[in-house]
Amino acid sequence: MKCRRCRADAVIELPQHRTAFCAECFLHHCRQQVRRTIEKYSMIGAGERPLMAISGGKDSLAAWDLLLDLGYDADGVYLGLGIGGYSDRSGEYARAFAHQRGVKLIELDLATDVGFTIPEAAAQRRTPCSACGLSKRHLLNTVALEHGYTVLVTGHNLDDEAAVLFGNVMRWDTEYLARQQPVLPGGDGFARRVKPLVRLGERETAAYCIIRRIDYQVEECPMAEGNRHLGYKELLNRMEERSPGTKLEFYNGFLRRMQPLLDGVSSQDKGDLGSCGRCGSPTTGELCAFCRLTDQATDPQHRSTPRGRRGRKRRNNSRRQVVGAG
Ligand code: FES
Ligand code: ZN
Repeated sequence: MKCRRCRADAVIELPQHRTAFCAECFLHHCRQQVRRTIEKYSMIGAGERPLMAISGGKDSLAAWDLLLDLGYDADGVYLGLGIGGYSDRSGEYARAFAHQRGVKLIELDLATDVGFTIPEAAAQRRTPCSACGLSKRHLLNTVALEHGYTVLVTGHNLDDEAAVLFGNVMRWDTEYLARQQPVLPGGDGFARRVKPLVRLGERETAAYCIIRRIDYQVEECPMAEGNRHLGYKELLNRMEERSPGTKLEFYNGFLRRMQPLLDGVSSQDKGDLGSCGRCGSPTTGELCAFCRLTDQATDPQHRSTPRGRRGRKRRNNSRRQVVGAG
């Protein structure tokens, strides 16, 4: 098997693109895919400093590396989820990368800064991944805005997006479908959220990290076992094996043909969002979902009220730290 670009021996085959690359040309391919995605969707403006959400896994570290290589002055943010040794080790990978590349990593910790861990939240009748996703969305957005970043980058790849899309279609969740875009505009209490890896699959981000010698967390999150999202991924992988390119077609077809029809459908588009009575975040209710989750997770007896004293106390106790070079 030869590299499609330079005819050297190929190290990776990409059946979805009917191609194969040597190591150097594969890195070039990844950079091209990310650069094109950023340009196509106007993800990052000239001179804008992006904040990269880092989990310690292959996708977010590959994305951070790619952004830096493409010349973006990207800082990172890591949220400790309190999932025992798994979270400890994930944080170590994030810190090691920031240290090696001499870049800034902002750290926050769910237990220290907010008062609960994902396992504690999951014990209160919440599925771990929904509590985890909600916490990440809320806190990373808050940190981005507090530190003056206008764009928050996440490492969602094609496999993630295709699986989320599959789930949203299975439930015909028009609110989520309307918001499933590579770029969610900022303003009204939100930093712009962008996903520059949507053209790369997880096999590609893993190969990218190996070739670039980036150490990353290879363990799967112990709390994600058996969740629906992983089931959808397995299903799509089986379809992809039988007919390569299925995921790309499914996701790109949605963006091209379906997404424009959903314009104006989300609560944000309809202007239905007010502010949370406690933390001020955008929400359709009196309290935002994150403040309600915090009440449940820290005190199951607590009735959520906009003036809950716990919220104010937590914010005052916030101990966020910044490591790495500035
Ligand atoms: Fe979020 Fe596992 S990383 S629940
Ligand atoms: Zn709130």
